[in-house]
Amino acid sequence: MIVEFVSDNIIRLVRNKKASEKSEAVVLREKAKIRLNFEEEGSYSLGRYTVRVSRGLAEIFEKEHLLFKETRFEERRNKVLWSHLLAENSRLYGFGMKDGPLNKRKWGRIILRNVDPTLRYHSPKTDPLYLNVPFYIMARRGYAVGVYIDSPSYMDVRIDNKLGIITIEKYGADLDVYIILGSNVREILSSYIRITGRPYMPPLWSLGFHQSKWSYGSEEEVLHVAEKFREYDIPCDAIHLDIDYMDGFRPFTWHPKRFPNPKSMIEKLHSLGFKIVVIVDPYIKIDDEDRLFREGMEKDYFVRDKKGGLFIAYGWPGRSAMPNFFREDVRRWWGELYLRFHREFGVDGFKNDMNEPSTEARLRSYIGLGVKPKNMVFCKKNICLHIEEAGNMYALLECMGIYDALRRTGRRFFILSRSGFAGIQRYSANWTGDIWSSWKHLRASVPMILNMSLSGLFFVGADIGGFFPPFRKTKRELYLRWIQLGVFYPFMRAHYAKKRPPQEPWCFGEEVLRIVRKYIRLRYRLLPYIYSLFWRAHIHGEPIFRPLFYDFPDDDKTYDVEDQFMFGLSIMVAPILHRKDRRKIYLPEGYWLDYWREKIYFGPITIDYKADIETIPIFIRDGGIVVLQEPQRYVGEKRIEEYEIMIFSRERKGEFILYEDDGISYDFEKGIYAETKIVANPTKIGIEVLNRNYQGVDKLKLRIFMEKKPKEIIINDEQSKFHYLNKWLIARTTKANQEIKINP
Ligand code: GLC
Repeated sequence: MIVEFVSDNIIRLVRNKKASEKSEAVVLREKAKIRLNFEEEGSYSLGRYTVRVSRGLAEIFEKEHLLFKETRFEERRNKVLWSHLLAENSRLYGFGMKDGPLNKRKWGRIILRNVDPTLRYHSPKTDPLYLNVPFYIMARRGYAVGVYIDSPSYMDVRIDNKLGIITIEKYGADLDVYIILGSNVREILSSYIRITGRPYMPPLWSLGFHQSKWSYGSEEEVLHVAEKFREYDIPCDAIHLDIDYMDGFRPFTWHPKRFPNPKSMIEKLHSLGFKIVVIVDPYIKIDDEDRLFREGMEKDYFVRDKKGGLFIAYGWPGRSAMPNFFREDVRRWWGELYLRFHREFGVDGFKNDMNEPSTEARLRSYIGLGVKPKNMVFCKKNICLHIEEAGNMYALLECMGIYDALRRTGRRFFILSRSGFAGIQRYSANWTGDIWSSWKHLRASVPMILNMSLSGLFFVGADIGGFFPPFRKTKRELYLRWIQLGVFYPFMRAHYAKKRPPQEPWCFGEEVLRIVRKYIRLRYRLLPYIYSLFWRAHIHGEPIFRPLFYDFPDDDKTYDVEDQFMFGLSIMVAPILHRKDRRKIYLPEGYWLDYWREKIYFGPITIDYKADIETIPIFIRDGGIVVLQEPQRYVGEKRIEEYEIMIFSRERKGEFILYEDDGISYDFEKGIYAETKIVANPTKIGIEVLNRNYQGVDKLKLRIFMEKKPKEIIINDEQSKFHYLNKWLIARTTKANQEIKINP
């Protein structure tokens, strides 16, 4: 076994593989601090940690404390079995897109196999789903250890809670694990991001609202939807085109009757302030007349079957070939096609669907659609891997090629992918697949997105309103509650399936329309805050939609909260997830301000909250700073003149770094951006310009929560004018280094 001290807190254990070999999921290329070759026995200490190997199994200690212990490594035919202890009382999080409870110790078995679950997904206990990540975190108060297994193999995970052991079974004789140590989940996650890569910085417009349907079936329909959004004054930045825009479902084509003038349609949409996202499925019709098929065949670009022939998949175009993304030249080819499609038609984003690429048997047999993976083989030079050994990586490799090609434009694109793997965060956002319009699925989206966040996937959302089932209309209350929650999904999109009654915001009556408008506007008001959170995600590996224990690691109770979440460091959301307008809400230690009611709570406390249909419970943490702006109908509609800095600091000091850049180019990588640090204390507010290579917004409106009207407020050593209304103090200043004093 090779033991590497990769960094101060990452220890890598490698068996039956060269340490220099790493999968495409890993970006960490620094040389390990120490690399040792242990046969059966040995021990080594570096900094706080010691690795001790006896009888071929490793233990890791921090001083005398045992942090991690292997209990088995066994080679069995073409597989390995590997077990280790689950720390006592620890919960288990991560694994990518997972249904069911937040704490995965409640599940005996977890399957890591990317698959389209199709109709099985109507129950939120379905496993596996489209996207799996072989990374998990064991955590409790005072303890956190992360485990990343660097292998694209399908895996079977078994949890024995009695013995406190987790066992992983994977294909191949090799085992390459990174054990990440730290004192809390925050440290583990930021180290994991160092291994598999920082989440990409998306274009600002993609953080606005997206409307989608399978499918808006013609140019007229798309333009009609776009105009309705403007007519009803509901902010929206993107419309998605689903498979029916294509000619015979062939990628990179347009349907000649439905979309005869795609270029001018897109120009029109652009002039209305919309971006266009199109779906692409990696299925190329087996047809000698098809240009892509011919080219792919000539150059041997397609996935093979076990016998070396062409692998036949059943995609939307019928019998199809699939690009073999394991080869770099195929990734380049595929990426070029995206680039060309953008250049020719002005498309702004892509949704990569059906890229697991395997499909559950049921859909295959019902409608003859799907991929029966058994015979799939991915060859690269002389090495051929069977789908079981490498299939989980297909979508990651696909997105890699696309991202690289589109980057050449110098402009950030929105890429969305259904499947994925560790590292997909470097290229793409994800959504949680074909969920149903049910309260169960609304509820399930919270722990699911939390576990995705804890797997390094930060830019995620669920289909607002629910996607399936056909013929059934989504109930208005459910739709509203979903929109309210969706404001806080890092990726906010409404999407629904064919043969369902219309599900756009104006299809549920006046009242719903009004409330939806209010909430999508709230999303747009929050954009400076949200964009700054994406920057933190990009730089520090800090998730946006995160569990309470991320911010309150010392509160053991938070480790089991799965129906509330932090939205960045200042906001806590307790969504309404049942057909009831009351719920219990847990508020951890400290003061909390009810966003809607100017009421303060003091935690730890569990409160009973009544939230009428207008209200999703939102709380600002003590020390919370939220930067808001005027809502717009789309990003860039008007020049933003002023930011509103909302501050609640009752006892605790808070800090927030406002981030601004042009929202679309990669100039931020050259340092062209602005960062402004805001520090809030109960009677003092500091503003410090850290970096101003980008102009940004200059005027600041301070909105400070104060229970009593203060005597005076001093800005730039002078008494300043202020208003005091409903417990909010309002004063104005500009973005410059300064200290603002409040005389209570
Ligand atoms: C898949 C996708 C869904 C899409 C549909 C048609 O079911 O998950 O989002 O609308 O295919 O393309």
